[in-house]
Amino acid sequence: MLLARTVPELRAAVEAARAAGKAVGLVPTMGCLHEGHLSLVDLARSRAAFTVVSIFVNPTQFGPKEDFARYPRPFEEDCRLCAARGVDVVFAPGADFYAADASTWVEETAVSQGLCGEHRPGHFRGVATVVLKLLNAARADVAVFGRKDLQQLAVIRRLVRDLDVPVEILEAPTARDSDGLAMSSRNRYLSPAERAAALVIPAALAAAASLARAGERDPAKVLAAARARLAAEPGLRLQYLELVDADTLRPAPAAEPGRAVLAVAAFAGATRLIDNLAL
Ligand code: PAF
Repeated sequence: MLLARTVPELRAAVEAARAAGKAVGLVPTMGCLHEGHLSLVDLARSRAAFTVVSIFVNPTQFGPKEDFARYPRPFEEDCRLCAARGVDVVFAPGADFYAADASTWVEETAVSQGLCGEHRPGHFRGVATVVLKLLNAARADVAVFGRKDLQQLAVIRRLVRDLDVPVEILEAPTARDSDGLAMSSRNRYLSPAERAAALVIPAALAAAASLARAGERDPAKVLAAARARLAAEPGLRLQYLELVDADTLRPAPAAEPGRAVLAVAAFAGATRLIDNLAL
């Protein structure tokens, strides 16, 4: 496995793979890899003979009071996991991935509104900008993103469509631990008590979804079922809970299985967790 630190190094490796007739798959990450990331790698490898994993803790998507400085960076371990999973290149640029006087941003203005976009101003501008840079750097045929970051995925799909980026976006299902908690690099911040509280998040989503599957179509009632479970857990502080249309991410007019998605963000202690569940 090659470790590329600069765009020219990455491009040389990708062009050589292309010359050998290989399709290129990209899995953008911020490192601190877990089984969820590795399932994205598996999906990329099932569609492309040459796989690049980028590891870059992107400063522009963190707010001033967020965890950029303390975001875990177990780089050696990440590289070991990538090599064991058959990754061809780890692309790990330094801070100079952005020019010191970089002045160009990519801003999606519809699906980035509301949900996380409302509570993390500038976050999706940072995500969209770095993802376009990574797609340009790798010239990938396919790029894989997790369904857990529902709004991120929607922003990236729009970006690719609106700017004619020649890449196919693949969506990987949310990977969960055996207790149901959606895998996240930030789960390692959780104390045992906070983790126990966090488990109420998937349980609340499941309770609400089963109400809808049983025939309840009123969004208010479906949301109330989830909200009651979340409110009963004193270790959680809810940031948002919404039932949204899967395509537009606007509030869903009905709790329609196959169309509507429950999306939640909540704090367990100081750790912000997100999750979602399609009805
Ligand atoms: O999902 C993430 O890990 C990040 O938002 C991404 C897509 C790698 C961009 O920094």
